Amino acid sequence: MPTHLTVQTDADGIAILTFDSPGKAPNVLSEESLAELRDAVGSLIHDPAVTGIILTSAKPDFLVGADLKMLLAAAQMTRAEFLERVRSLQQLTRTLETGGKPVVAALNGTALGGGFELALACHARVVADDPAIRIGLPEVSLGLLPGGGGTQRLPRLIGAREAIGLITQGKTVPPRKALELGFVTEVVARDALLDRARALVRSIEPIQPWDKKGYRIPGGEVHSPAGLETFVGTNAMITRETWGNYPAPRLATYAIYHGLQLPIDQGLKIEARGFVELVFHPSTRNMVRTLFFSMGSAKRLEHRPAGIPKASYRQVGILGAGLMGHGIAHAAALNGIDVVLLDVDRAAAERGKERVGAILADAVKKGRLTEEKAAATLDRIRPTADFADLAGSSLVIEAVFERRDLKAEVTRQAEAVIGPEAIMGTNTSTLPVSGLAETSVRPEQFIGLHFFSPVEKMALVEVILGAHTSDTTLAQALDFVQAIGKTPVVVQDGRGFFTSRVFGTYLTEGVAMLGEGTGAALIDHAGRLAGMPMGPLTVADMVNLDLSHKIRLQTEADLGASYAPHPADPIIEFMVQQGRYGQKVKAGFFDYHERDATLWPLLETHYPKAAIQPSVELVQQRLLHIQAIETLRCMEEGIVSRPEDADVGSILGWGFCPFHGGVASYIDRIGTRRLADECDALADRFGERFRPPALLRDLARDDRSLYPA
Ligand code: NAI
Repeated sequence: MPTHLTVQTDADGIAILTFDSPGKAPNVLSEESLAELRDAVGSLIHDPAVTGIILTSAKPDFLVGADLKMLLAAAQMTRAEFLERVRSLQQLTRTLETGGKPVVAALNGTALGGGFELALACHARVVADDPAIRIGLPEVSLGLLPGGGGTQRLPRLIGAREAIGLITQGKTVPPRKALELGFVTEVVARDALLDRARALVRSIEPIQPWDKKGYRIPGGEVHSPAGLETFVGTNAMITRETWGNYPAPRLATYAIYHGLQLPIDQGLKIEARGFVELVFHPSTRNMVRTLFFSMGSAKRLEHRPAGIPKASYRQVGILGAGLMGHGIAHAAALNGIDVVLLDVDRAAAERGKERVGAILADAVKKGRLTEEKAAATLDRIRPTADFADLAGSSLVIEAVFERRDLKAEVTRQAEAVIGPEAIMGTNTSTLPVSGLAETSVRPEQFIGLHFFSPVEKMALVEVILGAHTSDTTLAQALDFVQAIGKTPVVVQDGRGFFTSRVFGTYLTEGVAMLGEGTGAALIDHAGRLAGMPMGPLTVADMVNLDLSHKIRLQTEADLGASYAPHPADPIIEFMVQQGRYGQKVKAGFFDYHERDATLWPLLETHYPKAAIQPSVELVQQRLLHIQAIETLRCMEEGIVSRPEDADVGSILGWGFCPFHGGVASYIDRIGTRRLADECDALADRFGERFRPPALLRDLARDDRSLYPA
């Protein structure tokens, strides 16, 4: 039977518990490792020959958290049964800290979530001095709260004010920051780690501060003026950031607020109840599924075509050093790949490189990158206007203006230079990839690599298969996406692919409502309340109305009579005629000032507000349902086939309500029968664009979900 933990007791009677789960995966607190830990702690605590305990790991990380598969198991349990599980982990941490033996965590690597909570239950924590190590409680970012005592011990150790900020924002920090904040005891050279842990075992008192008589919470009790300020401020901050959509930060704050007013054993019970409530909340299940499992498997390329050797990239070429080109160049160079950055002339290419320099300088200023790494990254970028310099690139990505003839021309010139094995990627945002591939001399080596702006912040790459793209090209393109640290979703070709197409419906639905007489503020706020990162009119201004208008004209020209006019079309056209293109000219639906934006005062003159306004719920429903319907159309057409891809693409691509777990999870959350009924009603009132496609009708017949039930 594989062991997850080894126990060795040295001559001084110090027992060293080393986590080392079988296989390559990092250590986690799983059913198995917890059972072994419970057995080990149970016997060591009562063994008179044992003078102290050290927890450490044989893997690069200490413990990266609890095994999230344990949460999936909750689906087969009652709340009471699951609560028992959570309580038994908490009791184990109490046994550790109240057993009378000194316990030290020797953190040789990253300690997150449940792993760090275990360390918090030790009497001291000594950490290897390595800035790559992360320590903290990121549970809230997955819709959970720390359920292994983290909400109780961290504030008791460093005060509510700091702890609440770290917990509600799911922040993790490197060792020296953890030391400064006071939640690790010492940071020492890696090779001195175990010696220091042994010395601490010999010197520390085996009792936690909160178990001592007369203990007071650092920084003031909950009802002190400072305490109250913290909690009032936190609640305001959570409301501002989440618009009431995320239960986790609220329940974590609740556990801290109430728990700190009670002895720790009572506080732990409050924490456990909050944890269970979240685990049984549908929003959490969806968040964990998409943000952890689906994103993890997308990053690991689990759906990459099999049997094709992994491609490694030494040099890539990028055509066009503009907004997207320089961003892609930055991502590649940062990950050790040489970049030939080509533009119409040397000066334009140099400007692209300078923009990369600015991103790097900013990262250095913020302490995220060392000067040396920034300099080495910039050195990897070779600006040029000469296509001959592309020779030796195993991939060339085209990011020139969105014009078919121009893209065809630069593709032809690049293909004349690069080797026979090299692949061509296009970063087009709207032009069907198969059409562009027609101008390629090797369409099977041609693929869409749709990046998002700003590239340095946006994790997604939508990988688009042309009609002739080969499996080898797909596999190699995916290897590149992985090599530069991005997350891919693979989709089929089609106008707007998946992301731009669905996201576009959010924008145009908002604009259409303006034309019906709905107040602009109501529209934008309803978008935020529904959980979108920005209101649709703000988004329209940001994308730039001129671009939306051009895309519409192009689509109309391509589709001819089959183009279905949208009520947003004349409004966008009018704005463009007024020269109100959006944020880039500081004038769109909003006027943009130095610090903020206000609605264009004449908007109401051109689009008068109706006397009777729709309810905020109806506006929200329209803004989300239209995206759900378009997603189902994409699925019906085979543009995107797996709900996991729709979820990952929608969250990373345009920020679709992460608390729903993405747009496919939203469809399941509403239920297909109800969605079909509501969309039929919306279609009758507002237009055929809401009419359910055949796929939804089919699912709705027996209320089937997209994910297996
Ligand atoms: P941009 O205007 O910032 O950059 C285009 C660059 O291409 C310019 O530097 C231009 O000088 C260069 N260029 C033009 N003709 C060239 C030629 N013959 N040879 C070499 N370079 C040439 O445009 P942006 O925004 O970077 O867009 C580039 C592509 O990426 C377009 O296809 C666009 O649709 C797509 N895209 C844009 C996104 C965005 O948010 N802006 C998002 C995703 C894709």
